Amino acid sequence: MSDRTPIIAGNWKMYKTNSEAAAYMTEFTGLVADAAGVEIVVCPPFTCLEQVRDAAAGSKIRVGAQNAHFQPEGAYTGEVSLPMLAEIGITDVILGHSERRQYFCENDADLALKVDRALVASIRPILCVGETDAEREAGKTMEKLKSQLAGGLAAIDEGRLTDIVIAYEPIWAIGTGKTATPGIAEETIGFIRETLAGMHGAEAAGRVRILYGGSVKPDNISALMAEDDIDGALVGGACLAPADFSQIVKYKQV
Ligand code: PGA
Repeated sequence: MSDRTPIIAGNWKMYKTNSEAAAYMTEFTGLVADAAGVEIVVCPPFTCLEQVRDAAAGSKIRVGAQNAHFQPEGAYTGEVSLPMLAEIGITDVILGHSERRQYFCENDADLALKVDRALVASIRPILCVGETDAEREAGKTMEKLKSQLAGGLAAIDEGRLTDIVIAYEPIWAIGTGKTATPGIAEETIGFIRETLAGMHGAEAAGRVRILYGGSVKPDNISALMAEDDIDGALVGGACLAPADFSQIVKYKQV
């Protein structure tokens, strides 16, 4: 058992209008009011951020964005900057989600800047890494993860690793109902921790939180969390219903 506090984060993706978000938060805040020993992060679309922040006030729920630009401001139509998020009290930001890498051409060079600038803005980056099905089949998983970690963390200052959260999300498990077995997730996350130890030393690597993501559900969270190196989950589909997400958050209590 590690002494790293687990994090359960929910990524709403492009789901929920403001009225749907309001109904969700009313129910969810009640359901998790007695959650203990776990950090909870809710990551709604930009349009709902302030409303969700207000609904979460007075609770332990942190509110995160799903992306941000690395420049503080500029002529970047459609983008939102980290200082803009910081000013409205956003504490976390998901960076490098595979959907952003795949559909919006996000690359490691951009991510290196985003991760660094998030830290500068005092927003905690949740950096996503993960391999495709083909890469796993071809035995290239570790190579891919190594290069994503080296790339995404290339610009951070010495000593900042533990202010970052890593999410291991095998692309073949996202939204497919195909969860990595706890054994595969543990083995791969163990490799990520070893890689981080090589980059930033064993002490920091032993303290950094590494989450698993990909078809996490109320019925598989406990087995995943029983693994030593898995420090929480980044949840997509199953976070959209307050009842399901609260069961995942309270995996220790059910
Ligand atoms: P999923 O998504 O839980 O629906 O598989 C996970 C994610 O994309 O973070």
